[in-house]
Amino acid sequence: MSSTLYTDIATLVTNDSSLDRGLLGELSDAAFIEEGGYISWVGEREAAPHADNSVSLAGKTVLPGFVDSHAHLVFAGDRAKEFSARMSGESYSAGGIMTTVNATRTATDEELDEGIATRAMEMYRSGITTFETKSGYGLNVADELRSVKLAVQHTEDVTFLGAHVIPEEYKARPDDYVALVIGEMLEACAPYSKWIDVFCDKGAFDYDQAKAILNAGIDAGLLPRIHANQLSSSRAVELAVELDCASADHLTHLTDKESDLLAKSNTVATLLPGAEFSTRSEYPDARRLFAAGATVAIATDCNPGSSYTTSMPFCIAVAVRDMHFTIEQAIYSATMGGAQALQRDDVGLLSVGKAADFVVLDAPSYSHLAYRPGVDLISETFIAGTSIYRSNK
Ligand code: NIG
Ligand code: FE
Repeated sequence: MSSTLYTDIATLVTNDSSLDRGLLGELSDAAFIEEGGYISWVGEREAAPHADNSVSLAGKTVLPGFVDSHAHLVFAGDRAKEFSARMSGESYSAGGIMTTVNATRTATDEELDEGIATRAMEMYRSGITTFETKSGYGLNVADELRSVKLAVQHTEDVTFLGAHVIPEEYKARPDDYVALVIGEMLEACAPYSKWIDVFCDKGAFDYDQAKAILNAGIDAGLLPRIHANQLSSSRAVELAVELDCASADHLTHLTDKESDLLAKSNTVATLLPGAEFSTRSEYPDARRLFAAGATVAIATDCNPGSSYTTSMPFCIAVAVRDMHFTIEQAIYSATMGGAQALQRDDVGLLSVGKAADFVVLDAPSYSHLAYRPGVDLISETFIAGTSIYRSNK
């Protein structure tokens, strides 16, 4: 097994709290060694031991690969018209999801698979090295099943979201749809899924329905997470904490009481800056969550309706500018926070024994991610020590 020393790094973000170097475990003029896909040494450049190969990253910044804990990559078509109408004054509603459901149901497996692969590649180009993806645009047994089957070929973090909205054909009998999700659909999808999610909100599923669905998923061996308080302040946060969900996501409408509830729980608060941006909604204020002591993640929420972006740097810039994250909090939330939201301890930090998933920035400091919005700073992305994207700039 050969080893590679990455050296002369201007700024290395490790997220390793044991280094006692601030939130990001930051080292200057640093180096690390990758061996067999894992990190085998991290430290000051001058102290680096010998390795088989050596790569100089002079003037660059290295961070753990971004961990995107919330995305909806399995879909066909787009909703550019809906976005355009929104920018002319219309408001976002859960109803638009059916447009994508109809396009997804008529797409071939190959088309859906190509869509996932294309968006995954976009993610790598934005520095994401781990991503979750949900189903949720099939909303019948056959199309939810093929969604999770295709998704699991791209990521181990697949989420069954049969409870995205009540599809058109069940509008008059929502209880029958909940029964289908809990019964036949869950049974078909569980073998290909790790997580179960419910859109618990106005126009989607209420507290009781969401609770029944998440409990059924837990009984089937899946781990719960939830779409909470995107469109309204419902009881979704309360439910997230009650069921020990790994994460409560969106939190656009969040009361102080709910921030405190999350802070006292194991549930990560996941904010999705792309969603407020693309639906022209008020941004939640991350300062309240941090003050309460909550664990916070930032994710892209990539989907064709409310947030059609695969760019974590974009989300970081918006989080800093409009959600009042400090730059350090935003970087941490997009790496370690995402890993915590997925209950992964192998990614999100660069320390001995962890995956050699890292991003090289063409910038002397990570601050540039927020300071230079819209500028592509990703020079190279590595997963398990292998380069999967290299900018040809
Ligand atoms: O996370 N909120 C529910 N689901 C997606 C939006 C889905 C859509 O509009 O297609 C979200 O924002
Ligand atoms: Fe979502």
